[in-house]
Amino acid sequence: MRFGADILRQADQLARFTSDPPRITRVYLSREHRAAGEYLRELMRAAGMRADFDALGNVVGRYDAEDLRAPVVMSGSHQDSVVDGGRYDGLFGILSAIACVRDLSARGRRLPYTLEIVAFGDEEGVRFGTALIGSKAMAGAFDPRWLDLTDASGVSMREALVAFGGDPEAWRTVDRCGGNVAAYVEAHIEQGPVLLDAGLPVGVVTAIAGGSRLLVAVTGHAGHAGTVPMGSRRDALAAAAEMLLEVERHCEENVGLVGTVGILRAAPGAINVIPGCVEFTVDVRSGDDERRRQAIAAFEEAFAKIAARRGVELASKTIYEVAASPCDARLQGDMARAIAAHGVDVRRLPSGAGHDCMVFPAVCPTAMLFVRCGNRGVSHHPDEIMSAEDAELATKVLLHFFEHLDLGR
Ligand code: HGY
Ligand code: MN
Ligand code: MN
Repeated sequence: MRFGADILRQADQLARFTSDPPRITRVYLSREHRAAGEYLRELMRAAGMRADFDALGNVVGRYDAEDLRAPVVMSGSHQDSVVDGGRYDGLFGILSAIACVRDLSARGRRLPYTLEIVAFGDEEGVRFGTALIGSKAMAGAFDPRWLDLTDASGVSMREALVAFGGDPEAWRTVDRCGGNVAAYVEAHIEQGPVLLDAGLPVGVVTAIAGGSRLLVAVTGHAGHAGTVPMGSRRDALAAAAEMLLEVERHCEENVGLVGTVGILRAAPGAINVIPGCVEFTVDVRSGDDERRRQAIAAFEEAFAKIAARRGVELASKTIYEVAASPCDARLQGDMARAIAAHGVDVRRLPSGAGHDCMVFPAVCPTAMLFVRCGNRGVSHHPDEIMSAEDAELATKVLLHFFEHLDLGR
């Protein structure tokens, strides 16, 4: 085995960079991000790349072509995790691409393009609420107002970047738009059961679902749980419960939509007090952007009716949005040929999960390689697993893709 066992061992090492062991939680610009970034930077350098952090905390490694004027192909994924996440989400795409360069370098093989590998600092959006920060910055979509977003402790992104050793004012230097980037390619664990159920180790991604994230606040009247008659309550949590069931009902009835309320906070949060204030999030996705936008309009209309009937106040805002992202047909074909060259049936599938890849069509054509996710396809969870054999095969496919990529066709 040339790659698989090493990659799983490196992922185990990276899992130790967490803020709440034994769980895996690694958020943007944290001490754990710094440690994981330095570990990845050393792996890149040991594989023969020039590597370092950029102004926004992404780690960027370059495996130069012989001709320094040659175009650039980018690959990689994110190093951050969700709270209590898995150890391969994001990291596999970084470790697998580094393993390819290590193999090329060991053979003294240069590519007709410079291969740039990126470990993005924040794809999940856990710390500051907005996601894809590094990849959006590279795709010319960084919003400098994000620098004033604050985390749960009130620390702004700007302050955190300075403390991390980044340079918030240099965010424009990260932008790759208009540069000579010819393709972006990302390998990623599937995070679902499709390849597992099909008995396949890898697959080609056709498109990535677009997504929106809403923050909803419901304000009623807190009160004594024992004395306020049921008919005169303004119970914010009961209203929010009705709203989240409306999200579920709407998405169940509309194929191609998924909706999730992942966070719900009720205040004051005492067993004998009627909740006066509730904040909850809605994550809604679809491969069809218009269908997603219609769903949000339907939610907001339903929420307003529920709030009016229950006499509570409602405030709702979209805190994150990203369009559905098709992968390039020609690069999909190249990836399919790389899979077939290893004797594996080619399966094409959409991605319900978002990825750094989804913002890169603003820069260049894109492609994704999915790797089987074991354990019922569970992800964003500590039970996320990948086999060394699948990691091995996926890396061989990625290496084949890199070595046969013809940018001049
Ligand atoms: O939420 C997502 O789809 C991605 O894993 N960040
Ligand atoms: Mn994820
Ligand atoms: Mn991911």
